[in-house]
Amino acid sequence: MTRIVFDTQAINKQRQNLADFDEIWVFGYGSLIYKVDFEFIECENAHISGFERRFWQGSHDHRGTVAHPGRVLTLSSIENTRCFGKAFKVKPSVFDHLDHREKNGYLRHKVAISLADTRTVQGLVYIASPDNEAYLGEASTQDIAKQIFDSSGPSGPNRDYVYMLADALRHYDEIDQHVFQIEHALNQLSKPL
Ligand code: BEZ
Repeated sequence: MTRIVFDTQAINKQRQNLADFDEIWVFGYGSLIYKVDFEFIECENAHISGFERRFWQGSHDHRGTVAHPGRVLTLSSIENTRCFGKAFKVKPSVFDHLDHREKNGYLRHKVAISLADTRTVQGLVYIASPDNEAYLGEASTQDIAKQIFDSSGPSGPNRDYVYMLADALRHYDEIDQHVFQIEHALNQLSKPL
């Protein structure tokens, strides 16, 4: 299998030429639900169909290091399911920022985004697929939680990423068993013996 190298910025720039657009929608399913670090024209609660969040992507540059990678989210394709998130209408220049932020294995994919106000719009979503170098893949809830518990990187402790996401999902009355099970396992690891 051809594996995608760590820095996906150049590949993403070739995948879609965004220069022809005035505005583009981007779907966020991770930290973008609780923290946005770019300007946007419009923001809506949203979902995409056929995907679920999974802590299957290694993080060497945000929530871990090369020596001790953390675990961050990617999307897994699963039929008859949906993934809640937030959709942002942005200027094309925002993708320079996002491509850099998500360079550790994520590629932009075209996706239909269902907005909470009932509009469906075409947009882009970043997905880290199994053929990228940083991909870690499936593991038990316990093993994922332990790796997250033990990891920290330039963006802070890996566990904070899980806690902030879980809190944000509860805020929106969204149930995500994968995220909540890992949060529960992290709580168990935090308890004094
Ligand atoms: C996010 O929603 O924060 C996000 C997750 C993975 C890649 C890009 C964005």
